[in-house]
Amino acid sequence: MKVLVVGSGGREHALCWKAAQSPLLTQLYAAPGNPGMAELAECIPWDGDVHRLAEWADQEGIELTLVGPEAPLVEGIADAFMARGLRIFGPTQQAAMIEGSKAFAKDLMARFGIPTARYKTFSDVLDALSYLEAAGAPIVVKDSGLAAGKGVTVATSLQQAKQAAMNILSGAERGEIVVEEFLQGPEVTVLAVTDGVTIRPLLPSQDHKRLLDGDAGPMTGGMGAICPYPLPPGMLEEVEARVLRPLVQGLRAEGIVYKGVIYAGLMLTEEGPKVLEFNARFGDPECQAILPLLRTDLIELALAVVEGRLHELSLEWQPRASVCVVMAAPGYPQDPHKGLPLRLPSRPPQDVLYFQAGTRRTPQGLVTQGGRVLNVVGLGDTLAQALERAYTGVAAVEFPQALYRRDIGQKAYRP
Ligand code: AMP
Ligand code: GLY
Repeated sequence: MKVLVVGSGGREHALCWKAAQSPLLTQLYAAPGNPGMAELAECIPWDGDVHRLAEWADQEGIELTLVGPEAPLVEGIADAFMARGLRIFGPTQQAAMIEGSKAFAKDLMARFGIPTARYKTFSDVLDALSYLEAAGAPIVVKDSGLAAGKGVTVATSLQQAKQAAMNILSGAERGEIVVEEFLQGPEVTVLAVTDGVTIRPLLPSQDHKRLLDGDAGPMTGGMGAICPYPLPPGMLEEVEARVLRPLVQGLRAEGIVYKGVIYAGLMLTEEGPKVLEFNARFGDPECQAILPLLRTDLIELALAVVEGRLHELSLEWQPRASVCVVMAAPGYPQDPHKGLPLRLPSRPPQDVLYFQAGTRRTPQGLVTQGGRVLNVVGLGDTLAQALERAYTGVAAVEFPQALYRRDIGQKAYRP
C-alpha cells in the first residue's frame, strides 16, 4: 500500500517510523517531510495547498494518507482527498473546528454537557476589559483561532489579562477571545481514535507546555511528554464516558461524523476532569511518546477508522513506559536560531529513538531549521528507566546550545 504522511515535525517522523513497520506498506511518502523522515520516506515538496496535494496523491495512486498537523485539517485536506475518493485519516474541515475555533469548541461542550472551565467569548475589546475588571485574576485569556499552542495567557494579574485581551482584540485583524475560569490540578492528555461511532482511547500521556524547568517561562508547543501517565483508577473510563463519548455522539447527532484522532487536553480538578482544549490530531510531542508503545499496526488502525470498522479492532500496547524530551533551538519560542549545527550519534543508545523536527540537511550535516528541533524518546520497563534512557539519548546528541528541560516526567514520577 502506498501511504502518504502529511507534515514535517517530530510527530510526523514518529508516524512515518510506525507506518514503516507495517507489512501492508509498499511505499512511503511524506509531504513536505524533514531529514529524519527522508530516511524512511520519499519527501515531496509541498507549499501547503491542500487541493494540489490531493491532485498529486490521486495521480500517484496514494492509497492512504495520514495527516499530522492541524493547519491542513482546518483548511479542509480531508474534504479535498475524499472528494477524489482517496482514503485519508483525519477529520473534515467542519469536524476540525473542534480545534480551529475555541469559541466553537466551548459552545459544543456546553451543548453536550462536557465538563470544562466556565467561560465567555468576546470580540469587542471594551466589553472584554470591563468583564476582566469585574472577574479579577487569576484568569485565562485565549485567542480563539489557531495559535500553535501559544495563544493562551494564564494571567496572574489583572494587568496581564487586560494586556493579553488587547493584544488579540485591538490588532488590525479583529480577533475573538475566550476568557476562562482558572483551573488547577494535574494536566493530562487523552488521545482517542474514532471512526465516528467506536472510540478507542490511546494510553494517557502528559505534555510539558512551559519552556523551563518547574513549569516556568513562556508557553510552547510542548517540551516533552511521558506515557503512560499514571491516571487514578477509573479515570480513563470516566474521561471516555463524560468527554469523548458525548463529543463524538453529539457531533454525529448534528450531522458531523468525526473520523481520526481526538485530542482531549484535560485538567484533573478536585471536581473531576475538565477539558482545557480539544485538538483534531495527535499531540506533538505526545505522539512521539505514545506510538513506540503501540503494538497494533498503524496502517491497519488508520484503515479501520477511515472505513468505519474500528469496532473490529482492539488496540494492543507494550507494557512499558516512554519519555520524550524535546531539544529546541536557542531563542525558542519567540525567535529560534536557524543554521546551528547538531549531530546525532551514529548508533542510538539502547532503547532510544530520535525523531527529528526542525532540522535541515546541509553538506556539512544537520542544522537547526525551526524551534523544536529534535525529540529524544527513551523506552523502559518503568518510567524511571525510560527517563534515564531519554536523558542518556539527549547526552549522546552533539547540540551544545540546545534548550531542553531537565525535569520531564518529574511531576508524575512514581519510583
Ligand atoms: P490550551 O491551548 O487551551 O490547552 O491552553 C494551553 C495551556 O494553558 C494549557 O495546557 C494549560 O496549561 C493552560 N490553561 C488553559 N486553560 C486553562 C485554565 N482554564 N486554567 C488554568 N490553566 C489553563
Ligand atoms: N502538545 C500539545 C499539542 O500538540 O497541542
